[in-house]
Amino acid sequence: MKSIDVLLGLQWGDEGKGKVVDVLTPKYDAVARFQGGPNAGHTLEFEGQKYVLRSIPSGIFQGNKVNVIGNGVVLDPALFKQEAEQLAASGHDLTSRLVISKKAHLILPTHRILDAAYEAAKGDAKVGTTGKGIGPTYTDKTSRNGVRVGDILGNFEEIYAKAKKRHEDILKSMNYSYDITELEKEWFEGIEYLKKFRFVDSEHFVNRLLAEGKSILCEGAQGTMLDVDFGSYPFVTSSNTICAGACTGLGVAPNKIGEVYGIFKAYCTRVGSGPFPTELFDEVGDEIGRRGHEFGAVTGRKRRCGWIDLVALKYSVMINGVTKLIMMKSDVLDTFDTIKACVAYKVNGVETDEFPYDITQGVEPVYAEMPGWKTDMTKMTSEDEFPEEFNAYVSFIEETLGVPVKIVSVGPDREQTIERYTEE
Ligand code: GDP
Ligand code: IMO
Ligand code: MG
Repeated sequence: MKSIDVLLGLQWGDEGKGKVVDVLTPKYDAVARFQGGPNAGHTLEFEGQKYVLRSIPSGIFQGNKVNVIGNGVVLDPALFKQEAEQLAASGHDLTSRLVISKKAHLILPTHRILDAAYEAAKGDAKVGTTGKGIGPTYTDKTSRNGVRVGDILGNFEEIYAKAKKRHEDILKSMNYSYDITELEKEWFEGIEYLKKFRFVDSEHFVNRLLAEGKSILCEGAQGTMLDVDFGSYPFVTSSNTICAGACTGLGVAPNKIGEVYGIFKAYCTRVGSGPFPTELFDEVGDEIGRRGHEFGAVTGRKRRCGWIDLVALKYSVMINGVTKLIMMKSDVLDTFDTIKACVAYKVNGVETDEFPYDITQGVEPVYAEMPGWKTDMTKMTSEDEFPEEFNAYVSFIEETLGVPVKIVSVGPDREQTIERYTEE
């Protein structure tokens, strides 16, 4: 058995990663975030409480597990302070059980301003980012201008001032006006707060855990269709959200990875701009959004809704080497007479089930239709209770994707999670 598993989103994010990481955490010794930053919003519900995590791993509520923020993550100290303080106020102090990679890059106040400036400059072609400075921070990382957590321990003021000056010059050249005073004040308070935590060489830390026989669950953020290489570019985030991102974002070798849990909704959503072949603009789409409470966990933005897209999911399964599937929010489809699943695209009149280079134009979904189960699934606790039509839907997905669905989620609460004992 390999002791490091990866859980990641197969669609456009918000699949329910936070909930399932929380459910699976008791099986592991540690949980690690490997990419993304506060653009993520991972929701967990248990004992009548709801929590939304942005940079902090979703393993913090299940016992005294180790939680790691890896080198591939981008961290905003001001938002991190807010998040950690709220958790501490609700009785979840993290200082002794959260470690942060020295190699993680810091999101500067000017990165957030640049994010807004670049979006404004794009006009109608804007990405619809979360406005958290994600793109500019990763850009600085790859152009070798970034500021890292480890820099806090060195000649920090000078490093910060140099980076800020570069950003100010860019903003000036764009004629972009802004006020940094409050943002900067909160940011430096965040830096002071961050110093309470243990900064580690996370690649050594993680590999040491593995050498000691400990097990780790890696928690993906965003989703495969938002991956900077394989997503619907340029309407993507700026990191590798795929399984390989866990290797580069934590410093673990590919041959150490065991299970790859691919998580998807029983339908599909997307927030922000960009192509979405199965998007619904009718009453059915509105009904999915209403029943699924499809509003952004962080930004509150309305999520666009549509039927499940098996062409995109098959592609995601391939890119990630998914070994186990997890289907979320099945209960949202409980009332529909008919359920549709996109099995192919018609691209300029030609049918294909291979995900194409460009899905921005001329892609028409081809659907298979199935009868709905018209049963309230939210109180079910075992797969023996599943309606026949629901089993048929799951089997159809398994056959198309070639991977078993091991967990079905029938509501937002931790308890509303059903394991399936299918043969492998
Ligand atoms: P993440 O970013 O992948 O962690 O997902 P989000 O937290 O952004 O969005 C998932 C939303 O669906 C949250 O509001 C969850 O509480 C909710 N949720 C998760 N699983 C289920 C489910 O099975 N049924 C329903 N109705 N809601 C769910
Ligand atoms: P979780 O982890 C859904 C989307 C944004 C935008 C694009 C780029 O909760 O699933 P960015 O701010 O990253 O530069 O925005 O990516 N996006 C997400 N959509 N869930 C997320 O995270 C997202 N993080 C970014 O809406 O379209
Ligand atoms: Mg989310």
